[in-house]
Amino acid sequence: MPGDKSIAHRAVLFNAAARGVARVRNLPDGADVSSTLGAVEALGCHVEQSGPHEATISGRSFRFAAPAGAIDCGNSGTTMRLLMGLLAGQGFSSELDGDASLRRRPMERVAAPLRAMGADLSTRDGKAPIVVRGASLHGAECALEVASAQVKTALLLAALQADGKTVIVEPVATRDHSERMLSAMGAPIEVLGSRITVRGPAILRSIDVDVCGDASSSAFFAIAGSIVAGSRVVVEQVSLNPTRLGFVSVLRRMGARIDLHAKGESGGEPFGDLIVEARSLVGTAIEKQEIPACIDELPVLAIAAAVATGRTTIEGAEELRVKESDRIASVASMLRAFGVDVAEHGDGMVIEGVGSTRSGRLSGGARIDSFGDHRIAMAAAVGALVADGDTTIEDAGAAVVSFPRFFDELAGACA
Ligand code: S3P
Repeated sequence: MPGDKSIAHRAVLFNAAARGVARVRNLPDGADVSSTLGAVEALGCHVEQSGPHEATISGRSFRFAAPAGAIDCGNSGTTMRLLMGLLAGQGFSSELDGDASLRRRPMERVAAPLRAMGADLSTRDGKAPIVVRGASLHGAECALEVASAQVKTALLLAALQADGKTVIVEPVATRDHSERMLSAMGAPIEVLGSRITVRGPAILRSIDVDVCGDASSSAFFAIAGSIVAGSRVVVEQVSLNPTRLGFVSVLRRMGARIDLHAKGESGGEPFGDLIVEARSLVGTAIEKQEIPACIDELPVLAIAAAVATGRTTIEGAEELRVKESDRIASVASMLRAFGVDVAEHGDGMVIEGVGSTRSGRLSGGARIDSFGDHRIAMAAAVGALVADGDTTIEDAGAAVVSFPRFFDELAGACA
């Protein structure tokens, strides 16, 4: 698998803000992480490509240089939201912008709690482009309204530059890569249940990071291996961080056979292999509390639900509406193209699996629009493996955002 996208964004951004020089290995070559690398360079950080998939980053101890123009975050919500927190405490003004999809995504969820810390940001109707005027920040008590690791991380980056104590309270636990990495970098950060306390201002110590394989990318192969009869798939060296493995719990509940073999830890992150054998799956209920741990895997979990026997319900997943595409609408459109009965709701969907009616096979001849969304393109390819005939995926190239080699790897796994 390519290096984990979430961990890689943090390894680049946090080391850029730290004191010292760090080497980050196994960086994914997807467009999203390139956006973060480009952004830290635009902020005066020296980044050297010291090998394939490897960068050496000279940290700026939270003293960045004003960028020459607007920073282009491309398609990457993580880049934009994390930078909002980082730039809020700098001594200059900057502008953040992105592609058409990113310009449609909500940014006030980050801007509003940052303002409570003294930040001065403006959005255009709540969206990008965003102007951040550097300000002196103070600690604050922030109860997050949305369960979002991106919002949490933006606040952590602001809190490290602020005077005093900041407390962040999450409504539901989200991925904890930032807490793990910042602790490893010596940040004064304490986690007690859903409360995270940071005392600023603080200095980060740069650390070398070996980025483990991407848990979200591995889900496409875990589900392909679960639904293509007779398969056995081993996905090596991927993140086994529990806050990312919600898809494994859901699949096991559906009857999947997935074994996790822990192999070690890198930068505070557990990693290991995923071993999957095909099984017949049954429908399940995916509820609000477990959504953050499988949010990015829901498009491909919907494929598993489509071929399962019985009904699958997904609830409390309204965040899907504001991802790279409206993923409730784009997943429903994908499943309908595959001949599956699906009902869309504001916060989720109900999928009638074709396990008993069509022996788990999807309709062939489907034309599926990826809506320019990498995870829809890749989920559709997994569905195509169990369709009766050819499937055409429009704008399949969207996969470059997180996994440029996806179609080659999938072909290799099928060979
Ligand atoms: C991410 C957090 C999630 C996830 C995104 C990556 C991160 O978004 O969907 O792909 O790296 O922090 P939210 O925090 O907005 O839920």
